[in-house]
Amino acid sequence: MNILLLGSGGREHALAWKIAASPLADKIYCAPGNAGIAQEAECVALDIADHAAVIGFCKDRRIDFVVVGPEAPLCAGIVDHLEAAGIKAFGPSKVAAQLEGSKGFTKDLCRANAIPTAAYERFTAAAPAKDYIRARGAPIVIKADGLAAGKGVVVAEALDDALQAVDMMFDGGLGEAGGEVVVEEFLTGEEASFFALCDGTTAIPLATAQDHKRVFDGDHGPNTGGMGAYSPAPVMTEAMNGRVMDEIIMPTMRAMAAMGVPYKGVLYAGLMLAADGPKLIEYNARFGDPECQVLMLRLMSDILPALIAARDGVLKSFDLRWYPEVALTVVMAAKGYPGHYERGSVIEGLAEASAIEGVEIFHAGTKAEGGHILANGGRVLNVCALGHTVAEAQARAYAAVDRIRWPDGFCRRDIGWRAVEREKEG
Ligand code: AMP
Ligand code: GLY
Repeated sequence: MNILLLGSGGREHALAWKIAASPLADKIYCAPGNAGIAQEAECVALDIADHAAVIGFCKDRRIDFVVVGPEAPLCAGIVDHLEAAGIKAFGPSKVAAQLEGSKGFTKDLCRANAIPTAAYERFTAAAPAKDYIRARGAPIVIKADGLAAGKGVVVAEALDDALQAVDMMFDGGLGEAGGEVVVEEFLTGEEASFFALCDGTTAIPLATAQDHKRVFDGDHGPNTGGMGAYSPAPVMTEAMNGRVMDEIIMPTMRAMAAMGVPYKGVLYAGLMLAADGPKLIEYNARFGDPECQVLMLRLMSDILPALIAARDGVLKSFDLRWYPEVALTVVMAAKGYPGHYERGSVIEGLAEASAIEGVEIFHAGTKAEGGHILANGGRVLNVCALGHTVAEAQARAYAAVDRIRWPDGFCRRDIGWRAVEREKEG
């Protein structure tokens, strides 16, 4: 088969690496890709926002299957456009991708189907939103309805911060994404991510993970796309996984199908494990980044037949096998991220780092130039490792990090701390 993968991050490098291991894959292309992906696939300089160009490329190169990594093309309807052109594609349709693209859509779906989530209201103007916030009090959470590249959520500790967030969003601080706002109850508990593979009616659990969103050690500083992750999430017991499938994932699948928008693709549930059970914080319509990297390391089965079965609606009797080991990834980012950072610094020592047992390095934002690997983004490398325990995976990943020579980069030194502490207690 000829495969086209869309995206350019660490998630896509991990997907390319896993797809390349499939005996079904003949030729793999990736648009636009990065220097790491280029080791697994032929990178092509296609503008993935230009759907006609993507379709033209697929016809020209006889692409049999397209795998879409990021949310933006999904929410822009690339799967609908590819399928209409007779090209098979993995991922939700534009309407189904609203589970990520519109927080209001998802909240209403939860309310109508008794799916546990934070209490909320939707607003299209600042004044009623502020009245609701004053009536509810802080802490409280303000969310832009649309896609906001991870900047659309304000967890307000104080009333004033909540009111300011409302003004910021309605004043256009997040562009169109903030034209509508959801105000919701502040939930407490431990967070975990749950991934399921869906074919429109059937959903099969993939694996669980936990990530570290804050930029600095101890989970301090501003939010990022994710500074590291590990899988499985130790808090996600068999019983908890069962509850998430029964109370959250399956009711969502049934509701989407009943509305005539069956959900196909990866459904990524961000969860809060509250005292009274799991609650949905948000859905994403794709693999998480960097969660995908740790999932792919743990996946024993060939991924390609599973993605195709999801697209074809025949997941029912599918069985995926996983390595029992823990996988952990440390994100190395350019100094300044998630604020301003420079591109173009030289990264060395990658081969020495990869030589450590259990270590795999995925590139997030790199490019190859003049025989060097250069930083070309905010999040630049995902240094991943498998281990028998979280502590072992963590030690291997940091041993690899320490072999990488990149003075303009930084990483957190405590990825997995919560799980390591749990291991010590257990
Ligand atoms: P999201 O982009 O929806 O994943 O939100 C980003 C982060 O904000 C989440 O990972 C949580 O840490 C936090 N958050 C979102 N919604 C809530 C909520 N209702 N209560 C507490 N924290 C929340
Ligand atoms: N790591 C969080 C995300 O992919 O949305």
